[in-house]
Amino acid sequence: MAKQITIIGTGYVGLTTGACLAYLGHQVVCIDTNVEKIAELNSGICPIYEKGLPDLLAKGLETERLSFSDTADTKLLQNEFIFLCLPTPQAEDGRAELSAIYEVAESLKSFLSSKAIVVNKSTVPVGTCKVISQIIGREDIDIVSNPEFLREGSAIEDFLKPDRIIIGANAIEASDRVAELYSNLESPIIQVDWASAETVKYATNSFLAMKVSFVNALAAVCEAVGADIELVAKGLGTDNRIGSKFLQPGPGWGGSCFPKDMQALVRLASDSGYKFELLEAVVDANAQQFKRIAEKVEKAVGKSLEGVHVAVLGLTFKAGTDDIRNSPAIAVSKLLSELGAQLNFYDPLVESLPEELSDGIVHDSAEKAVTNTEVIVILTEWPEFKDLDWIKFQRIAKSSKIVDARNLLNPQTLRDIGFEYASLGRK
Ligand code: UDX
Repeated sequence: MAKQITIIGTGYVGLTTGACLAYLGHQVVCIDTNVEKIAELNSGICPIYEKGLPDLLAKGLETERLSFSDTADTKLLQNEFIFLCLPTPQAEDGRAELSAIYEVAESLKSFLSSKAIVVNKSTVPVGTCKVISQIIGREDIDIVSNPEFLREGSAIEDFLKPDRIIIGANAIEASDRVAELYSNLESPIIQVDWASAETVKYATNSFLAMKVSFVNALAAVCEAVGADIELVAKGLGTDNRIGSKFLQPGPGWGGSCFPKDMQALVRLASDSGYKFELLEAVVDANAQQFKRIAEKVEKAVGKSLEGVHVAVLGLTFKAGTDDIRNSPAIAVSKLLSELGAQLNFYDPLVESLPEELSDGIVHDSAEKAVTNTEVIVILTEWPEFKDLDWIKFQRIAKSSKIVDARNLLNPQTLRDIGFEYASLGRK
């Protein structure tokens, strides 16, 4: 049954949530203080690169189930459901920064209609729903935690076909009313208390990051013992207690969530009296992985990287997104730059470099980035890198060396072309 929903915040989470809830048949209005962004959205322009979102946006506008407003005018705050999809960035000390959430909760409390439900979708430390409830301070308002598990590049699919829907509440009636919003989806709904729902989110991201760091470390072991990580990962992943996903070696994990959520959970645990050393080790292992890739590049060149021209293919934190926040590609490139390398970048979706890489050059093609370089390093698994003209690249590069930090290419194919090819944990 269609419900009246207000979404506060139109970032990755807010936009995806609003467009998908409208697609599920609800009446949705999304609010943001960014006037330009709201004007763009009302004219159907999608401000983020996310597969399928522009279509859902257009459909929502066309059916008039979805609209955008830059003013939180009171009637919009009187809808039955108010979703908080606000940024909770990482503060200097690693803790999550919650001022946006608290300010919105403060501004909401006098406008909310009776029996309204405030649904928090932002990633927040355990105990935040309780604080929101205290800030709003109204017996007739319920707060519900409904964490998201959206991956950039597959956010729509992850929203409409989730493995599970987590609902955290301290009143079953409110929990059931939020569950009802998702009645068109087949996914299992797990109804728990506030703290457990808030913890599941951090637990999921941390476990996934740990799994990635495990396979990266295992790749290093494979190199040492002469095993092949792809065969080992296949053997590992077919154990249904482990599963084959998130076992792809790479330069390390990054993005706008993993690094932030890992630090937040480590902090949260230590604030609560538990030193989460296992997670601290995973964070350290990730920094080690960046160094391991930079060392591989130096080893491939066989001399100091001082003044050496290096081609870097990929700047985003993974393929399928234009997001460079906490990208491992940037972390590795910074290490290469510190070793004196002259960096020549190409990425299908990134045209400008962050400040910390400003002495590098971004090219508008992989061919230009590779020309006259002494080594090529692949840091993002863009599928188009598989179809590059590697025979030509072998000719136009100054020397034919490649470090494939995403195990994207076939070693034998590249060696047959004449490349000295190195990758992670493969023979
Ligand atoms: C993640 C969570 O998956 C998602 O549920 C949560 O809501 C937000 O954070 P995202 O940040 O989009 O999503 O990235 P994800 O696809 O999880 O990848 C995270 C990092 O791990 C990337 O840098 C990626 O390249 C790396 N990764 C992932 C690997 O190196 N190997 C893998 O097998 C999987």
